[in-house]
Amino acid sequence: MPDDNLLLVNIGQLVTNDPAGDDLLGVIDDAAVAVADGHIAWAGPGSDLPDEWAELSRIDCRGCAVLPGFVDSHTHLAFAGDRADEFGRRLRGETYEEIMAAGGGIRSTVAATRAASTSDLLGHMVPRARRMLRAGTTTVEVKSGYGLETSTELRLLGAIAAVDDTLAIDVVPTFLGAHAVPPEFSGDADGYIEQVITEMLPACAPHAAFCDVFCDDGVFTVDQARAVLRSGLEYGLKPRLHANQLAPSGGAGLAAEVGALSADHLDHVTDDEIEALSLAGTVAVLLPGVSLSLQLPQARGNDLWDAGVTVALATDCNPGTSNIETMPFVVALACLEMGLSPERAVWSATRGGALALGLHDRGHVVPGALGDLVLLTHPTYLHLAYRPDAPAAQAVVKRGEFVS
Ligand code: NIG
Ligand code: FE
Repeated sequence: MPDDNLLLVNIGQLVTNDPAGDDLLGVIDDAAVAVADGHIAWAGPGSDLPDEWAELSRIDCRGCAVLPGFVDSHTHLAFAGDRADEFGRRLRGETYEEIMAAGGGIRSTVAATRAASTSDLLGHMVPRARRMLRAGTTTVEVKSGYGLETSTELRLLGAIAAVDDTLAIDVVPTFLGAHAVPPEFSGDADGYIEQVITEMLPACAPHAAFCDVFCDDGVFTVDQARAVLRSGLEYGLKPRLHANQLAPSGGAGLAAEVGALSADHLDHVTDDEIEALSLAGTVAVLLPGVSLSLQLPQARGNDLWDAGVTVALATDCNPGTSNIETMPFVVALACLEMGLSPERAVWSATRGGALALGLHDRGHVVPGALGDLVLLTHPTYLHLAYRPDAPAAQAVVKRGEFVS
């Protein structure tokens, strides 16, 4: 029998995210799931298991909860170095913006990343991605953006592809050449944007699925971001955007205007922008680990949700604002700090993440979906927030195979 066939039985609580269910999470108690050829073949109450699946190799889940694999839709995993010193300065009172304006922040990671060999980069990225997978993340988006020159951005996209080749986790690459103005263009953001458009995008686009820009006060303006995203579209890269993280700087409106797949951060989103995102069908990717790390108020997750915006949760794993790797912890933060219900948080970390990446084949447990599952150490998804520091994943299935 191929390895990507299996039958999970005695699942205490199965989260399907099946909209046909009565509840948001489509929960089935005492459930079973059959996976054939790497895809979900059947999911339902164990007592209803059809004979045709009963012969698959059977795993007894002993009453644990099973969720769709987490989809982490916003990370900056491709970096070298460490910014604990800046973190300490922030805890002692300096702000992220002050440190950035003084030449630290992203620029300090750019210096470390340019200096790192590709094998050093991978020596850092692969173990991190492996820990993410072991914690239940079966798909992760990774941005470039700490190179800010064509050769290093290309090297980062190459390293991102190598992580995808090395591990079972699916890695989705995003080009973020416009993450900051590099030192050699200091004071000339327009000149750098010109370089991004004329040189970096043509070289990098074949290695990415999305184009992102850090559109915010003190970084890139709405007009600069629009120019990059429009140009990215010409190279086949769908737009997504760092928007309204530091200030109400218009990025969320731009995301809606260009039909971006997602608008991310949104700590300073306005009511009008919430409506625009809802109308445009742009997913709001919220990053509660950033607000925790920066000691700032959380984004308005429930207001976005209540306005009909699709919400996703992600780690934003990066050396500056969210040195967090695991989605169970993000779910806990979303409940405990952002005020999302456990149901909204779990949905946003699974199906919401999948929709933020335009991947309709995952984030739910319905026939035909990818066989990506996480077996919790807990009896219910509620325990993700109830026991926020407990290791949450006891086993992870990727395309029907146990990978941890
Ligand atoms: O998502 N906002 C921009 N980029 C990252 C931070 C990067 C950094 O500080 O190194 C973020 O928070
Ligand atoms: Fe980010």
